[in-house]
Amino acid sequence: MPKFDVKDPRLAADGVKRIEWAEREMPVLRLLRQRFAKEKPLKGHRLAACLHVTAETANLMLTLQAGGADLALCASNPLSTQDDVAAALAKHYGIATYAIKGENNDSYYRHINAVLDTKPTITVDDGADLVATIHKSRKELLKTVVAGMEETTTGVIRLQSMAADGALKYPIIAVNDAETKHFFDNRYGTGQSTLDGITRATNILWAGKFVVVCGYGWCGKGVAMRAKGMGSKVIVTEINAVRALEAAMDGHQVMPIAEAAKIGDIFITVTGGLNAVDREHLSLLKDGAILANSGHFNAEINIPALEEMALSSREARPFVQEYVLKGKRKVYLLGEGRLINLAAAEGHPASVMDMSFANQALCAELVATRKKPFSIGIHPVPQEIDQHVARLKLRALGMSLDTLTKEQQKYLESWAHGT
Ligand code: ADE
Repeated sequence: MPKFDVKDPRLAADGVKRIEWAEREMPVLRLLRQRFAKEKPLKGHRLAACLHVTAETANLMLTLQAGGADLALCASNPLSTQDDVAAALAKHYGIATYAIKGENNDSYYRHINAVLDTKPTITVDDGADLVATIHKSRKELLKTVVAGMEETTTGVIRLQSMAADGALKYPIIAVNDAETKHFFDNRYGTGQSTLDGITRATNILWAGKFVVVCGYGWCGKGVAMRAKGMGSKVIVTEINAVRALEAAMDGHQVMPIAEAAKIGDIFITVTGGLNAVDREHLSLLKDGAILANSGHFNAEINIPALEEMALSSREARPFVQEYVLKGKRKVYLLGEGRLINLAAAEGHPASVMDMSFANQALCAELVATRKKPFSIGIHPVPQEIDQHVARLKLRALGMSLDTLTKEQQKYLESWAHGT
């Protein structure tokens, strides 16, 4: 039995059911698991993963386990763990799992360090906390780590800053940047699961509401698209002119947050940055305004300012904290400002995580089997992997492609044709 720290091992049976339910929608990962079980490409590797501990992540873990890796898993956010899944991974599938929903900062980092105690050769991060901890306080592990993978936009940006500072000391594959990851997971996954999380927490009606989406990257596009589909009037705030134009031509209003703050009924931050809703905006909010974040860190809404400004505060219902501000205005912060789709709902549906995690599994295989090691720095997912994942997913969905005829191929390769 591996070591573990989970909320309640007796939840394992529920977790197994949840993991099996997710598997139905993960055909690509299932195919990889079958191949990995035969070929064992990860044999001899110790893989440390810091991911949201969900049923979808469990299916990735089982694939890596089938590939022969020794595994240890901890949470990549204190509020995103599914406790039954963590129990199932530890008790039923024999994977060293350290994750408890609602854990505090001390326990979060104790769990990261427990995973690092296994002396990993490969790291898998969602937000770069493993890589950052290794470089800050577990430098001895740099000798044994071969490479790592990063799952999310915020993590890739963080690692790019490390690389630019000359601080990054081992190779990373930016899984987030694969097309079969961010086109689908960030857009359709975040779009659907964010509205799901806010709905489960509040049971609000979306139709007719002013929804302010801060940030129009892939996640913001998905959130805005789905809110529009529910009949909301979407306002987008941006700092990037091209993205603001995209938002405008997608049919949304675009304005600075200082104006949107006075209008919005629901605010959703997906910028990846700091204080997109800041102190001065909080003072402009309408009575009843709802604040939610779907970016990786709980830094996008200025929560310390909100707490300072509040005359009083109470839990209005699970995942909804009510703050009474000057003038008796009440505003509501959801899920402590942490990723609302994982805090109050179940994260992205399995069908998109299938592609994200197929990229992770194939990159783990690449790192484990490549003769020439990757250089230190950040590397893209090879195009062949991206195309392979897309083909497998299409096939699983029962769709097929056309292929170019010889004549068409020749035409595309020649410059002689013109007007
Ligand atoms: N990130 C967003 N949704 C997720 C999920 N369901 N599992 C793991 N990571 C996620």
